[in-house]
Amino acid sequence: MQIQDSVALVTGARRGIGAEWVRQLQERGARKVYAAVRDGSQEPIPGAELLHLDVTDPVGIARAAVQVSDLTLLVNNAGIAAHARLTDGDLTAVRNELEVNFFGPLNTVRAFAPILGANGGGAIVNVLSALAWFAYDGAGGYAAAKAAAWSLTDSVRLELRSQNTQVSSVMMGAVDTDMSAHYDGPKISPHDLVEIALDGIEAGRFEILADDTAKYAKASLNLDPEQRYAALPAA
Ligand SMILES: NC(=O)c1ccc[n+]([C@@H]2O[C@H](COP(=O)([O-])OP(=O)(O)OC[C@H]3O[C@@H](n4cnc5c(N)ncnc54)[C@H](OP(=O)(O)O)[C@@H]3O)[C@@H](O)[C@H]2O)c1
Repeated sequence: MQIQDSVALVTGARRGIGAEWVRQLQERGARKVYAAVRDGSQEPIPGAELLHLDVTDPVGIARAAVQVSDLTLLVNNAGIAAHARLTDGDLTAVRNELEVNFFGPLNTVRAFAPILGANGGGAIVNVLSALAWFAYDGAGGYAAAKAAAWSLTDSVRLELRSQNTQVSSVMMGAVDTDMSAHYDGPKISPHDLVEIALDGIEAGRFEILADDTAKYAKASLNLDPEQRYAALPAA
């Protein structure tokens, strides 16, 4: 999938990693970028076409789909992290994490995949997390939602193979945005993340491992849990 002349839609485009997707898609020559935002403001995003879209609202997404008949690249970027623990955290927060991080991309894929197919296949990229592969105490709901979205990515790739849609995931540890403001560990910049992701999409990669955290999480999947989590202090 080449970005030059593509028509892209980015969810959660107002800030953080989403805003960086919008910028770099334009830099790489996308013909049009739909910047999908859930806020009601008309504040423009330079060079992009604003689209109002909440990924948890299938009716609104269906309305948006009518406006993007030229779409060739869907970037499922929108996400939330409620830091909810599974055993004693707020269950509503856990459900919200699944609504946005799993059902969100599912809603957009169901609405936009037929358009991608009609335009020759195109591509879908799901912005996931290394926490799809590695649990972290304090992010149980988020990790479960991202793991489900990782599985979704593989299923959607198989289901859309006949319409020639490339389906990829981007996996990474912390990125320097509002979402990780509380976290003091190493973070990559949104710029570097999106650059690596776009290179991966253009190279036709199904899984784009954007940093060492993602590479470790992936490589450790074949270890027993006591080995995978050995570096963590005992509770
Ligand atoms: N930052 C990290 O450390 C990190 C690490 C791994 C993966 N990720 C993933 O990267 C993606 C982008 O995160 P970020 O770091 O840019 O986070 P962020 O700065 O918190 O931005 C999140 C974006 O998602 C949007 N959003 C939230 N709920 C939405 C909904 N229901 N419908 C539509 N848009 C919604 C937000 O819109 P509003 O502006 O309206 O709130 C915002 O634009 C997420 O999928 C996240 O899980 C982030």
